Amino acid sequence: MTKPLKALLSAVAICVLVCQAATGASGESARVSIDSTRPGPTLNRNVFGQFAEHLGRGVYEGIWVGPESPIPNTRGIRNDVVAALKAIKVPNVRWPGGCFADEYHWRNGIGPRDRRPPTLNPNWGGVIEPNTFGSHEFLDFVQQIGADAYLSVNVGSGTTAEAADWLEYLTTPQPTALARERAANGHPEPYPVAMLGIGNEAWGCGGSMTPDTYVDHLKVYARYARNYNPKQPMQRIAVGPDSADTSYTKAVMAAWKNKTWAWDIEGISLHYYTVGKGWPPVFKATGFGEDEYATLLEHTRRMEDLLRTHVAVMDEYDPQKKIALIVDEWGAWLAPTPGSPQGFLEQQNSQRDALIAALNINMFARQAERVRGANIAQMVNVLQAMIFTDKEKMVLTPTYHVFRLYVPFHDATLLPANVSAGEYVHGGVRLPRVDAIAARDAAGKTWLALTHLDPEHPVSITVDIAGAKFTRARGETLRAPRIDSVNTFDSPKAVSPQPVSARAAGGKLSLELAPASVTVVALE
Ligand code: AHR
Repeated sequence: MTKPLKALLSAVAICVLVCQAATGASGESARVSIDSTRPGPTLNRNVFGQFAEHLGRGVYEGIWVGPESPIPNTRGIRNDVVAALKAIKVPNVRWPGGCFADEYHWRNGIGPRDRRPPTLNPNWGGVIEPNTFGSHEFLDFVQQIGADAYLSVNVGSGTTAEAADWLEYLTTPQPTALARERAANGHPEPYPVAMLGIGNEAWGCGGSMTPDTYVDHLKVYARYARNYNPKQPMQRIAVGPDSADTSYTKAVMAAWKNKTWAWDIEGISLHYYTVGKGWPPVFKATGFGEDEYATLLEHTRRMEDLLRTHVAVMDEYDPQKKIALIVDEWGAWLAPTPGSPQGFLEQQNSQRDALIAALNINMFARQAERVRGANIAQMVNVLQAMIFTDKEKMVLTPTYHVFRLYVPFHDATLLPANVSAGEYVHGGVRLPRVDAIAARDAAGKTWLALTHLDPEHPVSITVDIAGAKFTRARGETLRAPRIDSVNTFDSPKAVSPQPVSARAAGGKLSLELAPASVTVVALE
């Protein structure tokens, strides 16, 4: 080959590579194949759970404004927040913490509100905890939004007797002294408690316990913190791993495998946050560039390996997958909003966070046999929130919109979805350009969720389904002018889902995905 010809051919080869990367992996290579002949596991609706800790303005102002407030409320709980949460069909809410749970004494939060003792919240800004939002208010709140209660009991600084009494107080239908006290406080009927966390981060803020020490506590709490409400089974969830550390996973699962008749659990928890690098979190919530965007998405994707690692350990002890893995703290933890109170964990929420949410949900879906619950941190005004409030004002975040788009996936049957769309490459980061899950809902409709990572170029995707016919796709897409676009009180709809539709030709559907977008469509 002559030198000029060689140069020309390599220029063409380089152009093919670069141009394809630049225009998005269009054409043949960008493809999603769904197999509806091989239905997989159910995506448990509890994967869309929320977390509400007594932290900053998460509970006070975010949920609770009090019955005397001019902000429209029902028994002290703000109506706008309830309506917004009902629309995303929140399956369960974890409360009262977090680290707060291991310093919470439930008796401070019952009885006439004006006589409840003010206490301290040393974990989160050292502020006064008024205890006006206690057990009855929480259970009223979850009933108003149609969710289950997920309580965390105090193992770190509480006692087994205190936890046992709390459960009896809430759940017994029998006329015990504690049930009579509950009735005197306004609720004769027992409450349903669907999930019970036995401690929180016992390896850290929950007592810095070795795995063996925690297991000793777990056995006692799992025995005595009983559910007495026959109308509602209760899952007990042990503290599990901190990120990649498998020591708690192994210790708890080994103990469970050798358990006696006297105690049991139904799940263990995993906590993992998207931080970017190091501690404390320094990545900005707005005003960031593509470097930070790509790094945070890569950090998010590490969840996939973590899940695989812990699922593999659990499989050794529990091949029948009786014990669920509940990722009851996840989400982006960024640098706090400048000027916000110390310890309130306030951060803006951008289109990038919407992608972080969708990627996490997709990863949970890929491990759906084991991951049967998850709780994003946190619901209102804290960390990767669904909702921000400022006195009477409320705004929905891009993350909220992802939770709304994914409602059809609650309890849906997952279908294998094979994506071949090349990579999104930036600096040293290489990630699959498109991430997708597919599922069939109870009415038989097939849904496809697509997350497109490339922030610069659209991508054209061809969708085919084995074993089913469809002629069109209809749904919504969440796209934004910039990766750091946010919703504000003044501009609440800057990032909001837009309708999207496409017609199929020859059994194949072509769909264009906007840069850095989340799209959910029904295939009809
Ligand atoms: O979500 C904020 C805190 O993060 C929780 O209180 C704690 O469990 C975790 O470390």
